[in-house]
Amino acid sequence: MRVLVTGGAGFIGSAVCRQLVSEAGVTVVNVDKLTYAANLASLASIDGSSSYRFEQHDICDQEAVDRLFARWEPTAVIHLAAESHVDRSITGSAKFITTNIIGTYTLMEAARRYHDRLPDERRKQFRFVHVSTDEVYGSLGSFDRFREDTPYRPSSPYSASKAASDHLALAWHKTYGLPVVVSNCSNNYGPFQFPEKLIPLTILNAIEYKPLPLYGDGSNVRDWLYVEDHAAGLIRLLFEGRPGEKYNFGGDSERSNLEVVSQICDVLDRLRPGPAARRSLITFVPDRPGHDARYAIDASKAHRELGWQPTRSFEQGLADTVEWYLASGAWWAGARNSVYDGSRLGLPGTLH
Ligand SMILES: NC(=O)c1ccc[n+]([C@@H]2O[C@H](COP(=O)([O-])OP(=O)(O)OC[C@H]3O[C@@H](n4cnc5c(N)ncnc54)[C@H](O)[C@@H]3O)[C@@H](O)[C@H]2O)c1
Repeated sequence: MRVLVTGGAGFIGSAVCRQLVSEAGVTVVNVDKLTYAANLASLASIDGSSSYRFEQHDICDQEAVDRLFARWEPTAVIHLAAESHVDRSITGSAKFITTNIIGTYTLMEAARRYHDRLPDERRKQFRFVHVSTDEVYGSLGSFDRFREDTPYRPSSPYSASKAASDHLALAWHKTYGLPVVVSNCSNNYGPFQFPEKLIPLTILNAIEYKPLPLYGDGSNVRDWLYVEDHAAGLIRLLFEGRPGEKYNFGGDSERSNLEVVSQICDVLDRLRPGPAARRSLITFVPDRPGHDARYAIDASKAHRELGWQPTRSFEQGLADTVEWYLASGAWWAGARNSVYDGSRLGLPGTLH
């Protein structure tokens, strides 16, 4: 089996590549443009494997993508390449529209041409797993959870671009018979995440005793899933996912941002005690425009149909993640020093 993974130098994509090569015994071709968010060091554990290949390309480049299908003849695609940070989408949405919508379209068109030419047996096996987010569903009140049939109500340029790509993916199934499976997952956390997202940014700022900014009053709730559990779910989709279907993934771990940041402070105080309790560094800052109040996932379809379950509690996963960042300065120092220093992103009107 040979899987073409897009965005495999990113946070979730690298976990998918590592699991496919090291645990599932699958050959991987990782296609990544290497944007600011990519880090090839995340793939060091499989880089020397004969089951792993890297191709640097932009998924919007139609000729390059066609050549990749012709050259590697994949059994399946797991499509993760995207611009992924909501705050960046607020200050500059163009790349989100280009990569997330046009890039997905370009990749699916190439997959469709390739799929149509396959002999019967291989055509039946082929899968296109489109990786998306729970943010497409918009904001929840206090009690509901997102189901696969929850209507789409995206709030940010990021989630709107992902919603558009989900609609395209499902339309390519209905219209052209491309065997697409869509996943909608809650917030991921874990090792190898670029330090602009809430958890790694807070860990690095807290290690350095810098202020820990929290949007609004910190009450926004997210459902957190450990990245390796998400990667395992995506691999299940390759084998068990039904074409034309959507699957929600979540960790049953709803936490407010204030709870998450406070917990990081407590873990760090325990592992690396400093001059004062780190909770004193928490600073409330003006809210993110269009900030969704709450996300929560009903993942019962993935449990039932895929036999998938998250394996790590939020408490354990967060402690493991903090330990990983403490031990992995060589991985994040370059990003922190020369790509993104942790300053505020996502205020409209700021050119970026
Ligand atoms: N991080 C989360 O919490 C989360 C949750 C649910 C779904 N998702 C989705 O999962 C996917 C991966 O997210 P992530 O957090 O790993 O993102 P990431 O930003 O860490 O990685 C994205 C990767 O895509 C690559 N890329 C970007 N534009 C490209 C292009 N035009 N051509 C080729 N490669 C390109 C980047 O170089 C990078 O390696 C995304 O589609 C995202 O929407 C993320």
